[in-house]
Amino acid sequence: MKVVIFGDGPFASLVWHCLTHDSSHLVAAFTVERAFLSKDRHNDLPVHAFEDIEESFDPSETAIAVAIGPHDNNRVRARLLDQVKARGFQTISYLASRAIAASNLAVEENTFIFDGAVIQPFATVGGNCIIRSAAHVSHHVQVADRCFIAAGACIGGSTTIGVGTFIGLNATIHDNIEIAPNCVISAGSVLTRSTQAGGIYVGAPARRLRQS
Ligand SMILES: CC(C)(COP(=O)(O)OP(=O)(O)OC[C@H]1O[C@@H](n2cnc3c(N)ncnc32)[C@H](O)[C@@H]1OP(=O)(O)O)[C@@H](O)C(=O)NCCC(=O)NCCS
Repeated sequence: MKVVIFGDGPFASLVWHCLTHDSSHLVAAFTVERAFLSKDRHNDLPVHAFEDIEESFDPSETAIAVAIGPHDNNRVRARLLDQVKARGFQTISYLASRAIAASNLAVEENTFIFDGAVIQPFATVGGNCIIRSAAHVSHHVQVADRCFIAAGACIGGSTTIGVGTFIGLNATIHDNIEIAPNCVISAGSVLTRSTQAGGIYVGAPARRLRQS
């Protein structure tokens, strides 16, 4: 299917590269909200204002992949995905051919799982999630919607990750704990206990720095 990528930053470029070289999708353009429109082209493709996107693309024949990072506990990406769907566009998901995932893993809408990520059997990943390269999501882990798991993070078995959570680069998350919704777990931290909603946790062992 023809795909427009929402975003024109480095993460959007990464998604463009992955879809172009490792999927059957044809990326036709980029789009951003008009207030962020700063250039005509990105990766040699046109950039359109999202407000006018129907002038160039028929929603019934086009998917929009929202390639926005973890800002504000992934709420920016969620808001834009809601708008994409409200305007009648299709959505896609992406599972890298070099990711290691259970054959029956359901990859929900606008979830992107990158090369080298491991999603073990019995683990689940919600919609609108980003699982970056070499993240390890162990067996029976439940990742809720709207999460971002950065590269190299390691999640122990049966842990649950609440909606909107961000887990930083190379963080270690113990098995059998509950991360409440909208938490931030810092890069390189070691989280040994369950968390409170909206908390920012840093260090090894991780302690709550503040509320987000
Ligand atoms: C958790 C995080 C968001 C906090 O950022 P911040 O709000 O800007 O906080 P600061 O960097 O000002 O740090 C605040 C305090 O926490 C400490 N701290 C921050 N990160 C820490 C870490 N990983 N381990 C231990 N302490 C840490 C700082 O030393 C500082 O302590 P101080 O006040 O005594 O000097 C940030 O450290 C982080 O991990 N970002 C994610 C990076 C990442 O994974 N990027 C991938 C992007 S896709």
